[in-house]
Amino acid sequence: MLELLFTFFLLVLFFLVLSIIWRKSARKYISSGTVASAYDAWTQDKLLERLWGEHIHLGFYPSGKKNIDFREAKIQFVHELVKWSGLDKLPKGSRILDVGCGIGGSSRILAKYYGLNVTGITISPGQVKRARELTPLGLNCNFLVMDAMNLKFDDGSFDAIWSVEAGAHMNDKTKFADEMLRTLRPGGYLALADWNSRDLRSNPPSLFEKLVLKQLLEQWVHPNFTSIKEFRNILSVNKNSAGKVISDNWNTYTNPSWYDSIFEGIRRPFAILSLGPLAILKSVREIPTIILMNWAFRKGLMEFGVYKCRG
Ligand SMILES: C[S@@+](CC[C@H](N)C(=O)[O-])C[C@H]1O[C@@H](n2cnc3c(N)ncnc32)[C@H](O)[C@@H]1O
Repeated sequence: MLELLFTFFLLVLFFLVLSIIWRKSARKYISSGTVASAYDAWTQDKLLERLWGEHIHLGFYPSGKKNIDFREAKIQFVHELVKWSGLDKLPKGSRILDVGCGIGGSSRILAKYYGLNVTGITISPGQVKRARELTPLGLNCNFLVMDAMNLKFDDGSFDAIWSVEAGAHMNDKTKFADEMLRTLRPGGYLALADWNSRDLRSNPPSLFEKLVLKQLLEQWVHPNFTSIKEFRNILSVNKNSAGKVISDNWNTYTNPSWYDSIFEGIRRPFAILSLGPLAILKSVREIPTIILMNWAFRKGLMEFGVYKCRG
C-alpha cells in the first residue's frame, strides 16, 4: 500500500514538474518581434520542417476522416482554398501577395500550378532565407521580410491576397484586414484561412475553457483570437470589400490534422531522431498544446475560419 502511494506521489510530482516547465517555457506574444523570434527558432532547429514539411498549416481531409497522408492533406488544403475562393479564375501572371508566407509552401503551389506571380512576406528573417533556399530558380516567387501590419506596397498593388493561419498572430485584426484590403486592387480576390475562437461574447467560456484558451494563446505566440463572425465583420466594414465577404467553418475538414501531426513523428521517426536528443524533447514539448488544440477545435471552442471576397 505504501509503495503504491509512493509511486502515485512520484507520478504527481513528475507531471507537476513537467507542467511547470511547459508553462515557464511558453512563447507569449509581446510584439511582432516575439513572433519573429519564435519562427526564426522553429526554422533554425529544422524540427517543424522535418515534421510538417514546407506547409505550416493544417491539412484538408475531404471526408473529415484520416484518409490521406498528412503532407498530401496540406497540399490538398491549398488547392481547396484556391477553388473555394475562385483564385483559379485569375489569368496566369496575376500578382498575388501571400501574407505570413512561412517558408513558402503555399506560394510555390500558387506559382507552379496556377501560374501566379507571387510575393510572400513574413515577419521572420529565418523563414525568408529558408523560403528562398527551397524555391527553384525560375519559379515566380519573391520572398521579403515585412510586417503585415505595415505593408510596404501601394494601394491596389495585387490582383489577389492570400493568407493562411497568420492572423491569429496579429495583435490588431482591423489593421491586419485593412492592410490586406488596401493592397488589393478593385475586383481582386481575397482568400484567407485562420484559427478563430467561437463567439465568446454570446457564448462565454467556462473556467476550464478559459484556461485552455490561455494556453493556446501563450504557447504559440498568439495575442488574441476573434470569432469567425467578428473577423468577417471587420473585413466587411472595409470599403474595399464592399460588404461582400463570405465565410465558412472548415473544422471538420481540418481537425484530423492535429492527431495526424503527432502520429507523423511515429510514422517518420528518423525525421526527429536524426536531429538529436534535444529535438526529441522539443517535439514532445509540443504534444500537450497539440492535444489541447485538437480538443478545442473538436468541441467548437476554436473554429477554423475561411473567408473570401472580391474587392
Ligand atoms: C502558422 S504560420 C503559417 C505560414 C504559412 N502561411 C503556411 O501556411 O505555411 C504563420 C506565419 O505568419 C507569419 N506572421 C506572423 N505575424 C506576422 C506579421 N506581423 N507580419 C508578417 N508575418 C507574420 C509568421 O512569420 C509565419 O510565417
